[in-house]
Amino acid sequence: MLFEPFSLASLILKNRIVRSATYEKRADDDGFVTDALIEFYEDIAGGGAGLIISGNVLVHTSGRSVPQQLCIHNDFYIEKLRRLTDAVHNLGGAIIIQLVHGGRQSFPALLGGEQPVAPSAVYDPSTRITPRAMEDREIWEIIESFGDAGRRAMYAGFDGIQLHAAHGYLINEFLSPHTNRRHDYWGGDEERRFHFAEEICRAMLKEVGKDCPVMVKMNADDCIEGGLEPEESLRIAKRLEDMGVCAFEVSGGMYEARNKTVRTEILKPEQEAYFRSAAGLFKKHLRMPVMLVGGMRSRPVMEDVLLKGDADLISISRPLIREPDLPHKMAEGKEKADCISCNGCMKFNKLDVVRCTQI
Ligand SMILES: Cc1cc2nc3c(=O)[nH]c(=O)nc-3n(C[C@H](O)[C@H](O)[C@H](O)COP(=O)(O)O)c2cc1C
Repeated sequence: MLFEPFSLASLILKNRIVRSATYEKRADDDGFVTDALIEFYEDIAGGGAGLIISGNVLVHTSGRSVPQQLCIHNDFYIEKLRRLTDAVHNLGGAIIIQLVHGGRQSFPALLGGEQPVAPSAVYDPSTRITPRAMEDREIWEIIESFGDAGRRAMYAGFDGIQLHAAHGYLINEFLSPHTNRRHDYWGGDEERRFHFAEEICRAMLKEVGKDCPVMVKMNADDCIEGGLEPEESLRIAKRLEDMGVCAFEVSGGMYEARNKTVRTEILKPEQEAYFRSAAGLFKKHLRMPVMLVGGMRSRPVMEDVLLKGDADLISISRPLIREPDLPHKMAEGKEKADCISCNGCMKFNKLDVVRCTQI
């Protein structure tokens, strides 16, 4: 099944392998596309993945969480982003842009010394940062910046949008009872915690129109006490589906939960696909396609996930850093990715670019 085509909204994917969003550290210091970034994406597009999701792209300067990150908070960025989408399209690939605001997982050193913003001032022991609770006016500004970014992405030629509502970044922070302690329109109960995602989704669909696929990557589980759990996440996903979101990528964890999103020690098939049971739950109750990400390394596991109906698409990140042509190799008989999940590629601060440190 892995190499069967798949219809995803208006897109026909040539196979069911998705390159999950992966920060590249290849933009320039101002967030513009570089030649090195284009070459990196040409390798992935030429490697055969059915769909590429870009690394997280910044919608507002108050949400910067990593250096040399792609930006889309100004029209200036459109022209060079178009070079990126052209390069992927010229190789027969499809590319979705992932849009993000880093929220409390942003760093003062990347914000000109400013304190990161979040729904509430909840201390993060992993970064030792206490963010500042956002004012109503600031919340609406960020919602608008997501919509504006969506419009720019369309001008830049992307095939769709993915909202990054996972891994403890701003949208996740509003959804999660752990990070959202507000008592106003934006928080207080499940319904109100949903409002930020709902308003972003509404702004996005208005800007990009019904024909543009809008997807969401979301935590099924924050993997932290008092955080989101699969039952509530499923209710959120259903609401997003009713609004017009066309696919859902199931992930989990946040910085504070440490090592739950990007796990190490994936040595046996049983350790692969670590969010599989949550994806199965989502698949059972949603009409829209479900992508599963997290730890898939071998073709038999990928095929089994598809065959048993736990997901429609297999999303992978680290294996494609090591082997961008893994989809082609698997189509020709390779059984298992070379990636050993050592997370050397995650040592952003020590690396000039995100790359495999084993080769
Ligand atoms: C170097 C690196 C950068 C990442 N950047 C992003 C990102 O920009 N957006 C995102 O949603 N996830 C990001 N992730 C998480 C991956 O998309 C994925 O959810 C996670 O690595 C688990 O999948 P894997 O086992 O196939 O690597 C990143 C992971 C790595 C290793």
